[in-house]
Amino acid sequence: MKEIVANILENKPIAEGIYALTFATGTPMPVRAGQFVNLGVGDGAHLLRRPIAVCKAEGERITVCYQLKGEGTHLLSALPAGGKLSVLLPLGNGFFVREEEKRIALVGGGVGIFPMISVLREYLPKGKEIHSYIGFRGRNAVCCLDELQKSTSLTVVTDDGSYGKKMNAVQAFAADMDRVRPDVVLSCGPLPMLRALKEKMRGTGIPCFVSLEERMGCGIGACLVCVCNKTEGAHARVCKDGPVFNIEEVVL
Ligand SMILES: Cc1cc2nc3c(=O)[nH]c(=O)nc-3n(C[C@H](O)[C@H](O)[C@H](O)COP(=O)(O)OP(=O)(O)OC[C@H]3O[C@@H](n4cnc5c(N)ncnc54)[C@H](O)[C@@H]3O)c2cc1C
Ligand code: FES
Repeated sequence: MKEIVANILENKPIAEGIYALTFATGTPMPVRAGQFVNLGVGDGAHLLRRPIAVCKAEGERITVCYQLKGEGTHLLSALPAGGKLSVLLPLGNGFFVREEEKRIALVGGGVGIFPMISVLREYLPKGKEIHSYIGFRGRNAVCCLDELQKSTSLTVVTDDGSYGKKMNAVQAFAADMDRVRPDVVLSCGPLPMLRALKEKMRGTGIPCFVSLEERMGCGIGACLVCVCNKTEGAHARVCKDGPVFNIEEVVL
């Protein structure tokens, strides 16, 4: 993990309330699918950084996509190209797909679609078959189709039915699961979506890994703000022990 001052190359809206931010790290930065960065929001009054998943990492260029939520992400959206950005990276464990797992199903909802793009970028070149089930809240939030369309198959759905079928990403996956028969399922999205996925996966014997989006402080395992409960009673730090966990391992 490094703390760097990156150069902002681009920071622009890509859908309603969603921005893509690209920055240069100065030296090539190896980042695995599912890892994240912790961004300084550029204002001394806001001491906490904001954790955002890496969407694309190409040499020293890193792109993250973020939804405007509260003060931190609004401040982030005001940072101009040519400006500086304090970044801690790369953080977390990321998604790891084993050699023998040839067919991957990706189930992403809301801002959880962005780490799914990093999986596509890392594992398609390794010859994996990747079937993606992606849920947006509505047509105005649909973005990153150029990347998502590289999937072996892609199903895009929306909560309100304004783009694709009216359903969520888990329902779309469940409807196609018997056809695709994935060796592993990787997911990120809001908690109710992950709970529904856990229910769906129960008893299938198919391994399923989820990236959790807990609120964070330090992002490096020191403050315990991000602790989640493990099924066996212990606790885990989402930033350091995760954010990717076996779905059976964590209480959602
Ligand atoms: C590992 C990780 C990866 C993430 N990747 C992305 C990403 O790729 N794109 C993206 O848009 N967002 C991502 N998030 C969520 C993002 O960190 C929060 O949306 C952001 O920190 C909100 O900051 P804010 O100052 O704008 O909002 P705040 O003012 O801090 O909060 C506004 C609202 O958002 C809620 N909120 C804040 N943080 C989180 C959180 N971590 N999870 C759920 N709800 C939260 C608050 O409860 C509040 O209701 C990720 C979070 C984690 C932990
Ligand atoms: S955010 Fe500080 S320990 Fe995880």
